[in-house]
Amino acid sequence: MAVIDGKAVSKAVKERVAEETKKLKDTAGIVPGLAVIIVGDDSASQVYVKNKEKACAEVGFYSEKFSLPENTTQNELNALVESLNKRNDINGILCQLPLPPHLNDKEVINLIDPIKDVDAFHPVNVGAIMIGDYNFLPCTPAGIMELIHFAGVSVEGKKAVVIGRSNIVGKPMAMLLLHENATVEIAHSKTVNLPSVTKEADILVAAIGKPKFVTADMIKDGAVVIDVGMNRDENGKLCGDVDFENAAEKCSFITPVPGGVGPMTISMLMQNTLTAAKMQNGIN
Ligand code: GUN
Repeated sequence: MAVIDGKAVSKAVKERVAEETKKLKDTAGIVPGLAVIIVGDDSASQVYVKNKEKACAEVGFYSEKFSLPENTTQNELNALVESLNKRNDINGILCQLPLPPHLNDKEVINLIDPIKDVDAFHPVNVGAIMIGDYNFLPCTPAGIMELIHFAGVSVEGKKAVVIGRSNIVGKPMAMLLLHENATVEIAHSKTVNLPSVTKEADILVAAIGKPKFVTADMIKDGAVVIDVGMNRDENGKLCGDVDFENAAEKCSFITPVPGGVGPMTISMLMQNTLTAAKMQNGIN
């Protein structure tokens, strides 16, 4: 069994982005710019946004945070997105989710110019992923593919099971595994006899949002297990969707929480912002 070190892979991706960013600055005078919008004061979201800004500074991007009050109206939020769409110094726009309940996230996502949609949430980008002809990949599934590649795991011909069908993780994850020729199944809360499904998986991606939900008896011997969960256990300790302590010995590779998928998400956001800056300036 080997633990995949997400922090180390994330660092390597950021170094690659930083190097390319420096080249872009030196040769074309371009500094990639990311705008991050956060509405309200959800503490987890505040931490995520802070980490995104920190990563921007590390790789040499310009970043601007828009911290809007909880009582922001849809019109105000929409107006901000429209103004950022027009700015040449902003290449990527990210609106941190979830939004307060009175705001419509779909409306905001649809307003972001697809070429600046570094989350790859806009329907145009989602469709592009479906047909395998995309500019951006959503950050979490893209980060997971990097981890799988780093571990030297070949996806082709493998049986992959994704637990969870969200638009942010489950659905695009299944598509990326399919693009690499896995046989993919998406399981969810209505799946009958889930352990019989997961037991078949050579690659198991857990994106459920329930602490230690995937137990050792649900895992095939030698499986690659990717844990997307970020939960608190009964003692308030950070834990994933997989019961790591017991599951680990059955796996060939497993990602820890924290230090697995989490750090990758931000690195892929940096990668997408760099791609956006290049595209918007006609550079390959
Ligand atoms: N909230 C949780 N994950 C994400 C993400 O990847 N992007 C955005 N915008 N919000 C999130």
